[in-house]
Formats: sequence, C-alpha cells, structure tokens
Amino acid sequence: MRIKVKQALASAEPLLDITIAGWVRTRRDAKEFSFVEVNDGSCLKNLQIVVDLAVPGSEQLKDALTGSSVRVEGSLVASPAKGQKWELKAKAFQLVGRADESFPLQKKGHTVEFLRSIPHLRARTNRTGSLLRIRSRLAWAVHEFFQAKGFVNVHTPIITASDCEGAGELFRVTTLDPKDPPKDNQGKVDWAGDFFGRQSYLTVSGQLEGETLACGLGDIYTFGPTFRAENSHTSRHASEFWMIEPEMAFCDLTGDMQCAEELVKYLVKTALEQCPDELEFFNAYVDKGLLERLRFVAERPFARITYTEAIDILSKTSQVFEFPVTWGENLQSEHERFLTEVHFKCPVTVHDYPKGAKPFYMRQNDDGKTVAAMDVLVPGVGEIIGGSQREERLDRLVAAMQSHGLDLQNYAWYVDTRRFGTVPHAGFGLGFERLLMFISGEGNIRDVIPYPRTPGHA
Ligand code: 4AD
Ligand code: MG
Repeated sequence: MRIKVKQALASAEPLLDITIAGWVRTRRDAKEFSFVEVNDGSCLKNLQIVVDLAVPGSEQLKDALTGSSVRVEGSLVASPAKGQKWELKAKAFQLVGRADESFPLQKKGHTVEFLRSIPHLRARTNRTGSLLRIRSRLAWAVHEFFQAKGFVNVHTPIITASDCEGAGELFRVTTLDPKDPPKDNQGKVDWAGDFFGRQSYLTVSGQLEGETLACGLGDIYTFGPTFRAENSHTSRHASEFWMIEPEMAFCDLTGDMQCAEELVKYLVKTALEQCPDELEFFNAYVDKGLLERLRFVAERPFARITYTEAIDILSKTSQVFEFPVTWGENLQSEHERFLTEVHFKCPVTVHDYPKGAKPFYMRQNDDGKTVAAMDVLVPGVGEIIGGSQREERLDRLVAAMQSHGLDLQNYAWYVDTRRFGTVPHAGFGLGFERLLMFISGEGNIRDVIPYPRTPGHA
C-alpha cells in the first residue's frame, strides 16, 4: 500500500510492506547500501530510504540522480541516524522516471530569481513546496472561517461589463479580430458586434455582484481570481490575484473592521497550528523574525486609527518620505509601512478616508468629506485588506455615481438593491497573495503564487 512521506514520518510504530513514491533529493552510495532521500511533496521533510544492493531493482540506483522519480516498497523501521525517527528499508526499488545531471535543482541553495525562471519545477523545492502547502491549508481555512459563521459561499462572474473600483484597470475580453473589427458609421470599433454584444472585461472585484447576493442571502463571501491591468512594477502587485470578499447585510463599518481583524487572526493562528514545519523553515531561511511576529499578531488587538489621525502621525514624524503627506491623497506604501513597522509595530486598521480618494460605492460620512472606508495594513507588506460600509441610501448613491461619471444605465441592476428593501451593509476584500506574503515572510508576490502574472510576464 502506498502511503505519503508525511504519514510515514508521523507513524507511531514500525510498518511492514508499505510503498513510498516521490522524487530523489539526494543519493549517497556506500559499499553495500545506497541512502536515497525522497520527497513526495506531502511535507517538508524527506524520508531516508536504505537500499541494500541485493534488493531487486537496485541496479537502477546508478541512474536515480537528483530529480528522478522512484517507487520503493519496504518496511518502515526505526532509524539509527540522528534527527529522524524512521527510515524505509527497501525490499524492491524502481526507478520510475530518470532525471539527468541537467536537472536544474541540484542540491545547493538557489536564489528566488532563479526559481522564478523555472516555475514549472520550483514546486520541487523546500521553499516553494512549503509556501504552496501553506497556501492550500489557508484557502481551506478561509472556508472554515466563513462557513462556521453561516456565510454563504457565492461564485461571482469572472467576465463582467462593470468596473467595480472605477480605476479603469480592466483587461478586455473580446473575440473580435484585432486586424479587422466591425466598425460603426463613425469608423469606431462597433462593440455591438462583439461576443457579448457589448464591451466586456475580466473582473477586478466580485463586490458589486456580491452586494446584490448579500441583500438576499444575508452574509456571503467570494473567493476567486481577480484581474488588474495595472502597470505597477512592484513586489506586491500582480495582474492576476485571488481575493476573498465577504459582504454582510445589516452590518456597519465597525462590524466590518471586526470581521476583517478576526479573519486575519484566524488565518495566522491556523498557519501556526497546522503548518509548523513550513513556518519554521521560513523563519530560519527567509525572515528571522517571522514566528515571533506572527505569534504577537495572533494575540494582540490591531491598532485602529482614522485616516486623519494617520496623516497627523505621518506629518509629525521626522522620517523623510518620497511622496508628500497630504490630507486627501491615498496613503502610499511607504506611509503604510511607516505606520505598521515603525510607529505602531503591529497591524493597523485605518478608517474614514477622504471621499475623493475612494470609489463611488462607499458610504458618505456626515462630515461631507470622508467615507466609511477601512484598510488593514500589516508590517512588511502594507495594505492587505480594503473595505467599506456601502452607500445604502438611493439618492446619495445615485449622486455619487453621477459625480464619478458612471453610466447609470449600466448599473441599474446594482441600484435596484437600494430601491427595493435597502439595508446598511458592509464588506471587504482580502488579497490572498498579500496575506501569504505576510504569513510566510516572502518579500515578493511572485513567490506566493505558482504562476505569477505581472506586466510583461504571462
Ligand atoms: O482595495 P481593493 O482594490 O478593494 C476592492 O477591490 C474592493 N472591491 C473589495 C471589497 O470591498 N469587496 O483590493 C482589495 C485587496 C487589497 O487590499 C490587496 O490586498 C489586494 O486586494 N490587491 C492586490 N493584490 C495583488 N495584486 C494587486 N494588483 C492587488 N490589488 C489589490
Ligand atoms: Mg485598496
């Protein structure tokens, strides 16, 4: 029976007649034995396999170089070697697929830049393997968190005709022939002749549809891919990323901030409890302060300040910023990082932003200047969550849409939720890759998603 390395290493007792299948990390040959370190992706650790040169198949050992795949039958026995409880004493050895000396991941340290150049092979490394196991466990934890609270998981469209964030960072979806599109009588492209009979795009956020579903189901969440044609060449922007977007009916900004903080803490705690080996690895090789920081974050409340207070802190410090600190402008990454890393030294929720810096759907505050928005900022990354209470008052919403230059006809379906039984509601978006950067200590978004898409790279 085949079992995974993870199961084998966790076994309470010796096991007879098991099969292990995986990839050779290293091989050491002695006179009568070979020691083969095999990893099958189930955990960070390898299983040492001891192959007596008398067992069937051992003549294939000479070709079992690093990167080769093997299948070994044998017994799990106590290992005399230091640092490992079990090893597999082989009874039959089979080389499944050879890898020759040109396999790029020979046993030595590799730079992340090099690993990025071989995304199709980097899941074979400790670093990417660990990250992707954490990613998988936390994706599940997102569902655990919301399902336990009775939220309904909804699937919002990936192809859409609306621009939720109003930033114009949309990828067009079309089947028109770029060389010969249909034209109207003014010589412009006639989108009525396109696949959907109108212009359509990849979604930047499932929020607008999510709001309509929350105004019926109560509490919903989405967890899906989103796309931004934002020409940002930074370590924290991807053109395709995964976002978790809860939306809660009968909820205000305070409830929204509470839910966001609870979710981040739940995910941090889950990683600490469920992925201890992987986090130890990142703590040892990627970010020395990682475990201490995560434990601290899991226990303490986040700082909570208004945008105006944030501007006040930023303008009083002696720190020099590249971008000016001006009330009314969005916070820059350097400002966000100053607040979390230098000033508060913990995650910070900043709320009530100037309305001019935010999209049309946010609820206007009574001061006439700010909206009920909130961002969660964390050390090392900056913004990981953006959210708000939504404008539920029909007249205010329509006025805001007009002042943002939206075509109201296009959004009649959205406005209907305010026309028929409107309710205060709120939600947010957590960038899954940004969260993973925070939890692993990885400094570049390209290293927390298997196949990163960034400007110039698909
Ligand atoms: O702040 P954003 O743009 O908010 C929204 O899209 C809202 N509609 C969400 C909502 O209220 N339902 O994006 C939310 C989060 C950011 O805080 C960030 O973590 C992540 O999505 N994000 C990105 N992650 C990677 N690459 C990018 N280019 C990102 N843009 C946003
Ligand atoms: Mg944002």
